[in-house]
Amino acid sequence: MSAPPPNIVLLGFMGTGKSAVAKELGRRLKRPVVEMDAEIEQREGMAISRIFAEKGETYFRARERELSRELARSGEKIIAAGGGVILDPANVRDLGCNGLLVCLTARSEAILKRVEKERHRPLLEGGDRLATIQSLMALRSRFYDAIENRIDTSDLSVDEVASRIIALLSDYER
Ligand code: S3P
Repeated sequence: MSAPPPNIVLLGFMGTGKSAVAKELGRRLKRPVVEMDAEIEQREGMAISRIFAEKGETYFRARERELSRELARSGEKIIAAGGGVILDPANVRDLGCNGLLVCLTARSEAILKRVEKERHRPLLEGGDRLATIQSLMALRSRFYDAIENRIDTSDLSVDEVASRIIALLSDYER
């Protein structure tokens, strides 16, 4: 039996376009899309912000860890990871064992514009959002920079990003 086709795993900071691009890739490649945040919300029966508030970030990270392990055993999916999945190297190793890893990046100002009106990201609540984005990005840059395939989405449309990933996929499968 031949191995299942690899997953496409979108990593990257909040607001870099992971969800929108995953949706577009799912549509174009006719593959199922897994939004890790949405999957955890469904399993826990509550929104991410409530999980953070009531159960804490450590609990949430453990659910991400569990789900990464599970997804490593599947194939053919488009996976949009939460922005913090990358913080645990074991997650990256698992998701990469049958998956093309792509890290989406964007300038902090572009991210601010995209997340400005949203209220579902607990790590961005309260205080100066741009400053929070910049300091979190600085703390995490070594994790994001370690992914070989990176696409800066600041000035690209969802369509353009999806096309670049499809090109990467044909190289990966060759
Ligand atoms: C987080 C990113 C969020 C969500 C949670 C924590 C992070 O996902 O998992 O709020 O630590 O960067 P998105 O990147 O989909 O916003």
